[in-house]
Amino acid sequence: MIRAIYAGSFDPVTYGHLDIIVRSSRIVDELVVGVLNNRTKSPLFSVEERVRMLEEVTREYSNVKIRSFTGLLVEFAKECGAHIIVRGLRAITDFDYELQMAQTNRIMSPKLDTMFLTTSLEYAYLSSTTVKEVAGFGGDISAFVPPYVQQRMKERMEKQVNG
Ligand code: PNS
Repeated sequence: MIRAIYAGSFDPVTYGHLDIIVRSSRIVDELVVGVLNNRTKSPLFSVEERVRMLEEVTREYSNVKIRSFTGLLVEFAKECGAHIIVRGLRAITDFDYELQMAQTNRIMSPKLDTMFLTTSLEYAYLSSTTVKEVAGFGGDISAFVPPYVQQRMKERMEKQVNG
């Protein structure tokens, strides 16, 4: 049984994340998507909301499980019984940070390997940060996130404006 972890903030999940989820879930037996519950950052969506959005958009992929985690990714991987961390590489600018993270994780947990997938070209420009920025200015984000996420973003933006 090959189990892998794909971790991130997913604030919110984009088509770029979904591309990596779908492609890596075809390679491994089980993919655990780990949603970081990061208390030092202030995300737009709570961890429960981010988990819910991921559950919704991955519903049709039966070997994909969504969980939240706090603390070190290597500890979460151990807890899940996973030996592979999946990461998406969009461009060369991602590389330094990703290499540093992969090496650090491997030193902390030598049996844990990081597997990189290059993001499909049509999503190589995409990030949750730009999605939030476009949505914040009332722009159309339908090319960037699934309809369910688009709706949640719309509601969140309206709530922020109306209080
Ligand atoms: O959304 P991101 O920025 O792609 O996710 C980064 C994430 C969650 C994978 C990374 O920040 C992480 O693993 N955080 C957990 C804490 C940890 O293990 N830090 C050491 C990594 S070198």
